[in-house]
Amino acid sequence: MSQSKNEGATSENVVWHLGDVGRVQREKLLGQSAGTVWFTGLSGSGKSTVAVAVERDLAAAGRLCYRLDGDNLRHGLNGDLGFSEADRAENIRRTGEVCRLLVDAGVIVLASFVSPFRADRDSVRAMHAAAGMPFLEVHVEVPLEVAEERDPKGLYRKARAGEIRGFTGIDQPYEAPDRPELVLSTASCSVEESAASVVELLRNRGFLETA
Ligand code: ADX
Repeated sequence: MSQSKNEGATSENVVWHLGDVGRVQREKLLGQSAGTVWFTGLSGSGKSTVAVAVERDLAAAGRLCYRLDGDNLRHGLNGDLGFSEADRAENIRRTGEVCRLLVDAGVIVLASFVSPFRADRDSVRAMHAAAGMPFLEVHVEVPLEVAEERDPKGLYRKARAGEIRGFTGIDQPYEAPDRPELVLSTASCSVEESAASVVELLRNRGFLETA
């Protein structure tokens, strides 16, 4: 990954320092092609569950993935952020940057974020395009009633009771992707079927070829 002299920098006094080993060489070392798979969907749609299954299947096939999970990153890197539109935008921006670093390291990134706003997801896509990195958007689609029925963390119940404000799907919008690379309907497919569809997508896009 290299950037033009001051692109993205806050000061003209910081300059990109190039290394001798690049992404292609790292991908060769790992025997794979790196890129980001971005799972978006309502809370309780199954994003993290499918990502865990994909990681397990790819690890068994000798591929190195790394999962970035909205709930998990909010324990550390993004622990200072809430759920306002601005904080969600910052959450996704920072995560997009982490995706870029991991892809540059040669890793297949599985990112699971509600990421309800199209503009935020599109900017992560643009960030990848600018760096020549693959980005595949997977819409983990589920009717709100099903997510609410599952309610694995009891958050929908709290949101309905007014104990959580700005909950996606209840009193904040979810903007579905216009042209995702894949749609998973987790109300009608098993976790294994969904994971297999993602692995198939990665295979078709050349992620699993030995670089
Ligand atoms: S995002 O909108 O900024 O992408 P992120 O994926 O990091 O969200 O975190 C979503 C998780 O935080 C949900 O799975 C849920 O467990 C929890 N959560 C807590 N409050 C909210 C809220 N107001 N809206 C959505 N999810 C919330």
